[in-house]
Amino acid sequence: MKNCLQNVLFVVSIILVQHVHAKSPHILFIVADDFGWNDVGFRNENISTPNIDTLAKEGVILDQAYVQPVCSPSRNAFMTGMYPFKTGLQHLVIWPDQQVCSPTNLTFLPQQLKKLGYATHMIGKWHLGFCKWQCTPTYRGFDSFYGYYTSHEDYYKKTNVRNGKLGFDFRNNMKTDKGGIGTYSTFQYTARALELISQHNKSNPFFLYMPLQSVHSPIQVPIEYENMYKNIHNEGRRKFSGMVTAMDDVIGNVTQALKAHGMYEDTLIVFTSDNGGWPTMFGNNFPLRGSKITIYEGGTRVTAFVHGAGLKKTKYTYKGMLHAVDWSPTIVAAAGGVPETNIDGINQWDNIRTGGQSGRTEFVYNLDDLAPYETGHAAIRVGDYKLIVGYPGLYPGWYPPPTYTSDNYIKEVPYDGSQDNTTQLFNLKDDPNEHNDLSQKLPDVVGKLRKKMAEYHKQMVPANYPPATSASDPKNYNGFWTPGWC
Ligand SMILES: *[C@@H]1O[C@H](CO)[C@@H](O)[C@H](O)[C@H]1NC(C)=O
Ligand SMILES: *[C@@H]1O[C@H](CO)[C@@H](O)[C@H](O)[C@H]1NC(C)=O
Ligand SMILES: *[C@@H]1O[C@H](CO)[C@@H](O)[C@H](O)[C@H]1NC(C)=O
Ligand SMILES: *[C@@H]1O[C@H](CO)[C@@H](O)[C@H](O)[C@H]1NC(C)=O
Ligand SMILES: *[C@@H]1O[C@H](CO)[C@@H](O)[C@H](O)[C@H]1NC(C)=O
Repeated sequence: MKNCLQNVLFVVSIILVQHVHAKSPHILFIVADDFGWNDVGFRNENISTPNIDTLAKEGVILDQAYVQPVCSPSRNAFMTGMYPFKTGLQHLVIWPDQQVCSPTNLTFLPQQLKKLGYATHMIGKWHLGFCKWQCTPTYRGFDSFYGYYTSHEDYYKKTNVRNGKLGFDFRNNMKTDKGGIGTYSTFQYTARALELISQHNKSNPFFLYMPLQSVHSPIQVPIEYENMYKNIHNEGRRKFSGMVTAMDDVIGNVTQALKAHGMYEDTLIVFTSDNGGWPTMFGNNFPLRGSKITIYEGGTRVTAFVHGAGLKKTKYTYKGMLHAVDWSPTIVAAAGGVPETNIDGINQWDNIRTGGQSGRTEFVYNLDDLAPYETGHAAIRVGDYKLIVGYPGLYPGWYPPPTYTSDNYIKEVPYDGSQDNTTQLFNLKDDPNEHNDLSQKLPDVVGKLRKKMAEYHKQMVPANYPPATSASDPKNYNGFWTPGWC
């Protein structure tokens, strides 16, 4: 009986897979790193991103696409559809000497896509932990991986230093790969993407997750890109602007390759930043308030768009609320699959593709009980209102782009306890740049949102943020940041 049932299920699943093959789009999921609200050509005439602008304007610009204020938590949300405060990743990021990775019992997006018959590839930055192999991309649903495991690194040398320990961090699948030393990583990523596209068997759907190194610090760019911005006197901003245009070139070259191989018309492109720009590192979110490492809008509301296969309504700006946790179920739905239901993410596919109302009316910016806070203690949005409780993060100001001045000094406001128990309330519809704190005026709204926050707080797990270990020292691994120490 059991065997019989298994056979029936097997046949049904083959039929399903074949059915899905016929209509599943190719999917290109691009994540920019530390790319700010005001760092894109379609918002800022001083930056050149012709490829992004064209795709965004032909597709759907996402006006209210929210993410976490820093890197690992956002990436965890993209891959799993789970809020970081439920998976222990709410406190800052995963450092290369912490025995931490995204919980291995969570289902990753590429694992779901593989069940739908996709070839699944990843190029770029992982940053979801690597202390054991089970944590790494090729164990979590990716057929191939080309890139690095840690938070950031030199674009040419491919090295990252943590607590005085220097290691090389670049891999082709599981193998360390020194072939690209001296090459600006952005060119390597384009070349790899072009190779994957040209080798892909087109009778299968193709998924490429491309979390680019651009435009995270260090501020490094080939001179030809910097030279495009001779009018910008501030050296950091000039180079950063060049980094943005180099990133835009990757997107241009990859879309060209999809066209050349007859895949473009069948491809859905999703583009988002992982968090807001970092003004101390020359990114910019103006006029939004704040920065990366802060739960104000500048850290959490990002440049994002979708383009291509499956969209019914295009060339407009979608105003509905989206959160990083929504991408996994939304992409699974776009792929023709059935999204998981026991996750925080909401399938927004039909809403985005038809211009329908968002399935989301609220979300958690972050909840973090581990002081000293860095990314901010707690914030929640319900409808048009946003409540911030306690310290909001390192960068509470408004920072216009530095263009003519050489001084880029931005005042960090480290946690000192004085803001514990404070509340701030904003109406983001009337005041998207968070100038008018309404908490004194509207105590009832504060009370309602505090209650809501307390409900979410009950679902929180403690942050998994252990002290550094020397076990990961690259000296133990021939100079490489390498799995095997947890
Ligand atoms: C573009 O640069 C000019 C000249 O510095 C500046 O006045 C303007 O605000 C910049 N635009 C944006 C959107 O940042
Ligand atoms: C994963 O494991 C954690 C810790 O054991 C547990 O709390 C959580 O419910 C598990 N999640 C899933 C999706 O199984
Ligand atoms: C994109 O392709 C052009 C033309 O081949 C090349 O000059 C440029 O370096 C490429 N850019 C990137 C970032 O790969
Ligand atoms: C491409 O994939 C299809 C379906 O999986 C398979 O039948 C075919 O042999 C493959 N073609 C090549 C050239 O590998
Ligand atoms: C904040 O509230 C907690 C709990 O009510 C209290 O223990 C703490 O002293 C308060 N901190 C400040 C700075 O008021």
